This record gives sequence, structure tokens and C-alpha cells, in this order.
Amino acid sequence: MSLKSSMLVDKHFIISEIDKRIYGSFIEHLGRAVYGGIYEPGHPMADENGFRKDAIEVIKALQVPIIRYPGGNFVSGYNWEDGVGPKDQRKQLLELAWWTTETNEVGTNEFADWAKLVDTEVMMAVNLGTRGIDAARNLVEYCNHPSGSYWSNLRISHGYKEPHRFKTWCLGNEMDGPWQIGAKTAVEYGRLANETAKAMKWVDPTIELVACGSSSSGMSTFGYWEDTVLDLCYDQVDYLSLHAYYNNNNNDTANFLASSLNLDHFIGSVASISDAVQAKKRSKKRLMLSLDEWNVWKTIGTSRADERWQIAPPEFEDVYNHEDALAVGCYIITILKHADRVKIGCLAQLINVIAPIMTERNGAIWMQTTYYPFLHASSYGRGTALLSMVDSPKYDAKDYTDVPYLESIAVHNEEQGEVTIFAVNRHLSESMELNVDLRSFGNVSLIQHIVLEHDDLKAVNTKENPNNVVPHNNGITVIDGANIQAKLSKASWNVIRLKVNGA
Ligand code: AHR
Repeated sequence: MSLKSSMLVDKHFIISEIDKRIYGSFIEHLGRAVYGGIYEPGHPMADENGFRKDAIEVIKALQVPIIRYPGGNFVSGYNWEDGVGPKDQRKQLLELAWWTTETNEVGTNEFADWAKLVDTEVMMAVNLGTRGIDAARNLVEYCNHPSGSYWSNLRISHGYKEPHRFKTWCLGNEMDGPWQIGAKTAVEYGRLANETAKAMKWVDPTIELVACGSSSSGMSTFGYWEDTVLDLCYDQVDYLSLHAYYNNNNNDTANFLASSLNLDHFIGSVASISDAVQAKKRSKKRLMLSLDEWNVWKTIGTSRADERWQIAPPEFEDVYNHEDALAVGCYIITILKHADRVKIGCLAQLINVIAPIMTERNGAIWMQTTYYPFLHASSYGRGTALLSMVDSPKYDAKDYTDVPYLESIAVHNEEQGEVTIFAVNRHLSESMELNVDLRSFGNVSLIQHIVLEHDDLKAVNTKENPNNVVPHNNGITVIDGANIQAKLSKASWNVIRLKVNGA
């Protein structure tokens, strides 16, 4: 082992309490996410409402606290009224975001029912593409108002006496993107977001609202968009969104694994722009960030223009390999490093569409490589994110300089008396010795050292071979009082769980 790195972790050096919603995800009416993913009447594992129980089980295991719905680009052409009421009267419609036919079999109420089954909150999005204030405030009234008004009574007549009480709402989706139905300029959107937010909060003052940031940091309007939009709606909204997708389509793994540095810079830039608007407005309110779409996306930009109007065709069914799991691990660590600003994160998406979980129509379910870092972080990354002093050898990649081979963070779960270190060794051919000084915690003991590693960076899990890339618990960590020495295999994701008795 020639690589050596170290972390000094102190329980008093706190970045922030971690908002559990950073382990959120996203399900859009897109491809086989809803139809054929969570919902497939007639499947041997379907419950009486058509929801696949095998999908419920693996999603529940992920402990996803919030799921964004129904889009995505889909929401910008969606009339929510088409998705409620008796199913046999629902319209089958052309869907213009993805050029499919939407059956409307699943709508707001069915999704709310399903969300309960997987113990998650719904993060609703309203259509600010083809629609506006009126449809949005009516949807809040339908979902959240107890009773006694037209829309709340309609919900009750649909069999939902209790309001859904959805708390977090997105004011549209990627409204800066020319591909968006009803795309807007920053000024058009900022004004609309402001006025829609006012009306929605007048219906239910307890809700929280997310304004659309740029659809990516690569947009030519990035920066100007955030500044202008926030200038127009800052006082009415609670979060600003960020979307970030990466891939290794150029087959440069060292560069790909460094892409979390781009995410880090992106989050920092958006926080700075937001803070500049706060300063200009002399506002006491500091806006938080919602990274409500992030992932590896290899099939981004692929078009199915010749195959229009199918019902739930397979779409963006990316097959994730070992290096993708490492990248996802690096993104999660990066999000945790920004736990003071990023309060919501949505792994986009959850099932079948750029997803950690795959299903076969009328058949099996299996977990992709990326399922595992997300599972570990969601399971053991609750509590407080700690600011560690990290020392790591570095490398230069095509788009990044000074990339640390070690990407890491420590999370303190005081309630459980645990500290967990999440660490990726980015080195593709050498293992690394990691020394962690935990002196403020006193003596520590090892609970487990989980490792995700594989000799082949391109190794994948498939229906036929679902356990090709899976974690093991045989990581090597040696404890000496408050110091630990861990071996991080080449190109590996590591979860070192420590008991900190008396911490
Ligand atoms: O997650 C897939 C798509 O990516 C979403 O619909 C859109 O918001 C983004 O461009």
C-alpha cells in the first residue's frame, strides 16, 4: 500500500445537522417508472391496487424520506385533474414531454397511497409550463384543505376524507430549458413563481416551496437565471433547486470520478448567488437548496422521436456499473459536505428510469450497483455532518486539478452513539491506507467496515446476475483507542461504522 491519507474528526466541528430529506428520490411519469415500475396490475407481486409489492419492499429498505412527483418535464404539460376521480372516466392523452400516451391510471391520490406504503413523503410539483396560479392553488386546496370547499370536497368524494397534507411543493420544473413545455425567461418565471407561491401559501400557509434554479450549471443563462428569479420571488419561496447529471461517456474514469468536484462547485456557486440576493434585499431569510435531481445519466439527450405515443415504453434504462456506484458515492459525500445548505436531495430517479432499481414486466426485480452507496448513506448517514481535516494525495484529470484520491466525510449519530465514515478511494490501481484520528470521541470500536469493490470497473448487475457487484462486510479496519487504520481497496466505496461509547 503506497497511498496514505488521513482524517482528523472532531465531534465539535459540525457542518450541520443532516436533513433526512437529502436521501430523497424522484418518480416521474416517464418510461416505466410508474407503469411497469411501482404499478403493474396483473403482476404476480401486485397488491389489490396494482402496486408491486416487490418494489415496495426494496424501496422501503432504502428508507427514502421524500419522493418528488409527478415530474420532471412531464409536469409542465400535466393537468392534475385528469389523474383524479373514477379511473374508468380518466382520459388517455398524448403526453408532450416524452411523446408517449398517458393513461392517467395513476394520479395524485394513487401516488399518495403508494407513498404511505413505502413510508415516504410526497414532494409535489405544480405545472407552471402550460398552466399557472389557478391550477396550482386548486391542487393545494384539493390535496391539503380539510373540507368545505369545492376542491377539498371533490377529494373527499374521490374517497379521501383526510387531506394528504403535502408539505413540500416544486414551482414547476426546469423552466429555463427550451425543451420544457411552456419554457420561460427568468423574468417571466420569477414573476409567475412569486404570484403562484403567494396564492398557494394563502390556501395553505404550512407548505414550503421550491423555486426552479437552472436546469444545469451548463446552461448559458446559469447564474443570471438564479439571480433574476430570486430577485423576483425570494420572499415567497423556501428553497432553490439544482439539477446535476454526470456520465463517463468519454470513458475517462479518473475524470468521471472527479466530477463530484463539479457538483461541489455548483452547490457553492448557487449558494453564493442566493446569498448575494439575500444581501441585496437586506433579508433575514437565508434560502436553502433543493438538489432535486442528481445522478449518473448516460443516455441523456437520446431521443425516441420515431416511436411516438407508446404507453410507458422503456426509456433511459441506464445500466449502472461499478464506477457509476463510486461516482454516486462521491456525489453523496459531496452533498453531505454541504448539509448546511442542501436540505433536500432527490436521486433521479428511483425505479427503471436512470434508477438504482430495475424491474422486468411481469418478472423480476433487481438492484443496480448504485443502489448500494445510496442504501448505506440513507441507513447510516443520519445525524450530524462533521467537518474533518483531510490529507490525501492528489491527481490531475482532464477537467479537474488537485483531485484528492480520498473522498470522505464523517457523520455523527449521537442518538445511536455511532460515527460513520464514508470514503471512496478514487485510485484505480492502488489501495490506500486511511488513518482517522477520532480523539474527541475517546475509545471507539468497530461495528462493521462495508466495502463495495470489483476488479472490473465496468461490471454490472443484471436480472441474470443480480449479485455481481454487491457489498461485503470484510473491510479491514484496525482500531487503536481513538485511532483507526483502514485499508481502502483500489476504486472502492467504504462505510466504516464505529461505536463511540460515551460520546
Ligand atoms: O429525470 C429526467 C429528466 O431530467 C426530468 O424530467 C427533467 O427535469 C430533467 O431534465
